[in-house]
Amino acid sequence: AKTIAILTGGGDCPGLNAVIRGVVRAAVLQRGWRVLGIEDGFDGLVEGPRVRELDLAAISGILPRGGTILGTSNRGNPFAYPVKIGTETKLTDVSSRVLENFRKIGADALVAVGGDGTLKIARRLNDLGLPVVGVPKTIDNDLRGTDVTFGYNTAVGVVTEALDRLHTTAESHHRVMVVEVMGRDAGWIALESGIAGSADVILIPEIPFDIQRVCDAIARRRDGGNRFSIVVASEGAFPLGGGKTIQLSAEKNLGVERLGGIGRFVAAQIEGCLDMEVRVVVLGHVQRGGSPSPFDRILSSRFGVKAVELIEQGAFGKMVALQGRSVIAVDIDEAVGNLNLVDPHGELIRTAEALGIMTGR
Ligand code: F6P
Repeated sequence: AKTIAILTGGGDCPGLNAVIRGVVRAAVLQRGWRVLGIEDGFDGLVEGPRVRELDLAAISGILPRGGTILGTSNRGNPFAYPVKIGTETKLTDVSSRVLENFRKIGADALVAVGGDGTLKIARRLNDLGLPVVGVPKTIDNDLRGTDVTFGYNTAVGVVTEALDRLHTTAESHHRVMVVEVMGRDAGWIALESGIAGSADVILIPEIPFDIQRVCDAIARRRDGGNRFSIVVASEGAFPLGGGKTIQLSAEKNLGVERLGGIGRFVAAQIEGCLDMEVRVVVLGHVQRGGSPSPFDRILSSRFGVKAVELIEQGAFGKMVALQGRSVIAVDIDEAVGNLNLVDPHGELIRTAEALGIMTGR
């Protein structure tokens, strides 16, 4: 029998527990293997090791639970790990410690569930002789190699419900509601929830927006009798020629916070060009918390089961992925490095525009 280990790295999202459960059930129940859960992403292998046995009792009841029972880490890159030396903190390569700790726990392979960062680390560790299978994860849906990631469908559902609720209050008060949603680099959440939730304007990082045209669109609606509008903006959206600060912040997700977020920025601009009341709603981590949708529970379960199959086949350095209707294996390399962004001229954007949604241009 084999012993395998699993960790969850990077930002959490609904479905992580369903992946863990899928791995444990396929390994323990179907194959009689042992599964060890590493705590707090790669931190649990840099320190400690901090591991716990994942038997069937440990995963009982976790399918509908958001987050990750294993915990995740905000710092954990073992190739550049913050190590305190005296009063200073230095980024240090501690990958040898990870390899050593992995040998200590006696596992034959590792399932690494994570986004671009976690998968890059997993790929490097695999090259150093630690057999890894990856499971792609990002709420933003911006990983390549897979058609969609788990958690994303749940997030789109949360935002859509919020948009439905905001419609009734916006309409009652004749207001413009600017709703800032997640999506640091990619506009998927804004675009799909905007379509599902009947937004009037959708602003995404892939299409720098022209604020004057946004104002014109809202004014046209108002003059046509719709005295309210719903604007959905990805947190990474930025104005056309918006100057370095905003462009940089869109890339780094830093300056925007200093500016009070792109939602606040857009709201201030709209108030400046229209005589309408504007309110801002920043949905934030509500989009990442809570129970996964049925779609995400199924996708996560399939990913977990497939990851165990890949280990059984010795297909290391691979990642599970959804392509079309099938869960398959791709090289981790295919997924990392470049992001899966919205095509500004693709069918989805053209659909939004055909529906009369203003996309910032
Ligand atoms: O990349 C996923 C994401 O949710 C982004 O949309 C968002 O900018 C970021 O993570 C938030 O990160 P944190 O949880 O560290 O605040």
